[in-house]
Amino acid sequence: MAPSILSADFGSLAEAVGAVANVADWLHVDVMDGHFVPNLTIGPPVVRSLRRHSGLYFDCHLMMTNPGEYLEAFRDAGADGCTVHVEIGGTDELVTGMHELGLRAGLAANPDTPFEALEPYLGDVDLVLCMSVFPGFGGQAFMPEVLGKITQVRHAIDQQGLAVDLEVDGGIDLATAPLVAAAGANVLVAGSAIFCAERPWEATEAIRAAACRERRGA
Ligand code: DX5
Ligand code: ZN
Repeated sequence: MAPSILSADFGSLAEAVGAVANVADWLHVDVMDGHFVPNLTIGPPVVRSLRRHSGLYFDCHLMMTNPGEYLEAFRDAGADGCTVHVEIGGTDELVTGMHELGLRAGLAANPDTPFEALEPYLGDVDLVLCMSVFPGFGGQAFMPEVLGKITQVRHAIDQQGLAVDLEVDGGIDLATAPLVAAAGANVLVAGSAIFCAERPWEATEAIRAAACRERRGA
């Protein structure tokens, strides 16, 4: 489970992170540049501040046109892994750059980007992120049409025997978590379903339980 702080109260981020600290596996940090996506959020200074309050794995989702210029700053601020979008190009160089900096390297695809765009990089990355909404905003409805792509990525990972995490991000809640788990996702990002809930830690555990039930049944 990777709670996304995009839906948390930005005025009390440390408190929000504390609310899920004991149940989250990762903390998902959504970085938006106002260019790749029509929204602005946070950058390395906020990651640095949060690092002082949390030992969680920081999973930084870089929705940026030029993430290469900021990878070192994110690493220095305390990011553990960074994920860049395949749509911006220059993937080989970005993945190499992340690894040289000691970051786990993720590659993300928007809902309308096909499996074939990710396929050539599966052997090079540590994580594939399938977006199940168009990135830019929290609280959007899950797009079931991405389930086919998630299944394709899972199949390829298993067939090639790769140690690659398969993350899904966007509209994940109690109802949709079982669907993506059944399709093969092993890392679930949830923003509003966690941070808009009265008790974020309970919401995190409930979503995890729903997903795990499905994986066992699969
Ligand atoms: C969307 C972000 C997501 C977002 C998910 O652009 O990448 O991480 O926070 O939020 P929910 O879970 O509300 O769809
Ligand atoms: Zn995200």
